[in-house]
Amino acid sequence: MRGVTVRPRIPASAVLSELPEPDPSEGPILVEAVAVGVDGTDQEIIDGAYGWAPPGRDQLVLGHESLGRVLEAADVEGIAPGDLVVGIVRHPDPVPCGPCGAGQWDMCRNGRYTEHGIKERDGFIRERYRLEPGFAVRADPSLGRLAVLTEPTSVVAKAWDHAERIGRRAEWAPERALVTGAGPIGLLAAMIGVQAGLDVHVLDRVTEGPKPALVKDLGATYHADLHETDEMFDLVIECTGVGQLVFHAIEHTAPGGVMCLTGIASDDRSIPIDASAINKELVLHNSVIFGSVNAARRHYEQAERALAAVDRDWLERLVTRWVPIDRWTEALERRPDDVKTVIEIGPHG
Ligand code: BGC
Ligand code: ZN
Repeated sequence: MRGVTVRPRIPASAVLSELPEPDPSEGPILVEAVAVGVDGTDQEIIDGAYGWAPPGRDQLVLGHESLGRVLEAADVEGIAPGDLVVGIVRHPDPVPCGPCGAGQWDMCRNGRYTEHGIKERDGFIRERYRLEPGFAVRADPSLGRLAVLTEPTSVVAKAWDHAERIGRRAEWAPERALVTGAGPIGLLAAMIGVQAGLDVHVLDRVTEGPKPALVKDLGATYHADLHETDEMFDLVIECTGVGQLVFHAIEHTAPGGVMCLTGIASDDRSIPIDASAINKELVLHNSVIFGSVNAARRHYEQAERALAAVDRDWLERLVTRWVPIDRWTEALERRPDDVKTVIEIGPHG
């Protein structure tokens, strides 16, 4: 079977090649790959800036945003051949630490977790792979191949979940939310905010291409410049990782507001910041800024429900390119009207 492997930390080492069938030790659920989404983390791994091969090997199978169809699932409760499934990216550390022991591997405290396609565990850009029952989430069959958006949605489902929990430290009735960045993560974050009944505003620098309309058609408000509004936001979900924007967004966070950082920018230009002014701002306004990465099982389940509830045409428009696996390198090209790019591996119908 074919798959895309990379030698972590060696730039441009990713190749499509012949791989052995998945080892039964990967788990009892045998899956035929349908599609895998690509994101900035994959790009970083391909660039040689991130990623770890499994112990004792120098190659890692790439891909963590999966969707596949179950071929075999002997004696696995709740999963049957023919089901569409999404693999959970992170597995708990072997100790395990407190959060990992409680199924909250997204909150791992000792860094010894593993991640499919990223850290010490083979990923999903290969024709077949195996999953462990606790790490396979049944996709909503009505979503078809669009269920490939489950993993990125799980990441924002966690961000909202934690922002909400932090907000509830005091009387909390959020009305307005700001999402910075209208890439796939920002748009999916906006989707969840709109579903929660919030007045959602999305900031991105483009004025052309599909993003402004995607925001508008969600029922949210698009801004190409935050200076045009003096509105304050109860919640901010930051999805760009651009330092300048992060600090600009602080000025738009309402007293008692919560800001979640989810992005990491590829170009980390340093910017001068007035640390004392920020300190004062945060203290006097009881503000919270927190970081969020990855997702626990319940966030994948929340993601599944959120995706199933949104307009299907809108979701179709979010995936701007489906690239067949033989042309996988094209999936990593950045084209002007790209929102989400997905590699197609097998049939979904
Ligand atoms: C993935 C997360 C992962 C993170 C850091 C992201 O692209 O979606 O699941 O935890 O990278 O490795
Ligand atoms: Zn842990």
